[in-house]
Amino acid sequence: MKMFDVYSVYDIDFVRAEGSYIWDSKGNQYLDMYGGHAVISIGHCHPRYVQALTDQLHHIGFYSNSVVIKQQQQLAEKLGLLSGKTDYQLFMCNSGAEANENAMKLASFYNGKKKVIAMKGAFHGRTSLAVAVTDNPKLSAPVNQTDNVIFVPLNDEAALEEAFAQHPDEISSVILEGIQGVGGIRPASESFLRKIRSLCDQYNAVYIADGVQCGCGRTGKYYSHDWAGVSADIYTMAKGLANGFPIGAIAISPKIAPHYGMLGTTFGGNYLACVGAIAVADVIRDENLIENAARMGDYLMTELRKMPRIKEVRGRGLMIGIEMPEDTAALRKRMVYEEHIMIASSGDKNTFRILPALNITTEHADRFLTSLHKVLTA
Ligand SMILES: Cc1ncc(COP(=O)(O)O)c(C=O)c1O
Repeated sequence: MKMFDVYSVYDIDFVRAEGSYIWDSKGNQYLDMYGGHAVISIGHCHPRYVQALTDQLHHIGFYSNSVVIKQQQQLAEKLGLLSGKTDYQLFMCNSGAEANENAMKLASFYNGKKKVIAMKGAFHGRTSLAVAVTDNPKLSAPVNQTDNVIFVPLNDEAALEEAFAQHPDEISSVILEGIQGVGGIRPASESFLRKIRSLCDQYNAVYIADGVQCGCGRTGKYYSHDWAGVSADIYTMAKGLANGFPIGAIAISPKIAPHYGMLGTTFGGNYLACVGAIAVADVIRDENLIENAARMGDYLMTELRKMPRIKEVRGRGLMIGIEMPEDTAALRKRMVYEEHIMIASSGDKNTFRILPALNITTEHADRFLTSLHKVLTA
């Protein structure tokens, strides 16, 4: 059997990693400014993370949700404190798409309505409803297509009001990323997020904050949506939550009551995912990584804005988009193969992203800035 060929990949074979450095099988060292797509939140192979997973494996690796898994409640408490949402409820699953799928389903159970408002340029994952609210027709198969989704332009308050006014009794939820990631690092404005909150209250709709990429402290707040000063009803999480151990989760407002059978999963909330996520939450708290993300993000963006040829620098904290006047494919290849620095593309071919671990230092940032300057001026 061979692999189903759906990814274009760099011809690099990583064998070892530590912090923000990774080594390939030829012994080359790479600086990781991509974090395996915003997943590496506390650095590769953080000792507390490795210890937590190793210890757990020596005790019990898996049992299903038919028994009490105490680590789930421990994680819920830690995430409540870290995010300031101590009264929210946690449901665990296995990926970002699944988190969004569960969030929209839960919203529909809650208010009995069918339609979802999503944003142009959004990416929410590949499962059926998640891909239906993703604004890229190439990713949707005929079976995923539905009349239940209304796309409005990001930050267009009039269009949002109009969508609600046209379907006053039908809007179940509004879903959006605090900062569009795949869309090319496009932040939702604080005023737009506040408008979503007030329209959802007015029309009994559920505000779903997709924090899969922009959450887990990356932007200098646990949930980037909270910069607007209003709370969402459901927050979705995945990528950075367990530093690479597969996990997804939703934090649910106390106003949404659970009942047995409403949501379910075989693997979600397993011991290993929980202890991985607990270790990440502890490290974020003890090493002040949310503050570090904000500080390092400000430093990087200030320095990037001084560089030649860059058209625009967008983002917040360590979720940064750098827009060039041209396609960035050649630049990215040079950064990876010549400078040995991992960076990310985006859905906008002129914009590349940096999504490093939240504990990067000025030394890491300066190595990246020096290399980028070299490539831009060569
Ligand atoms: C904002 C956002 N939501 C959802 C997803 C889907 O997550 P997953 O690939 O874990 O299903 C992604 C993945 O890139 C994402 O960026």
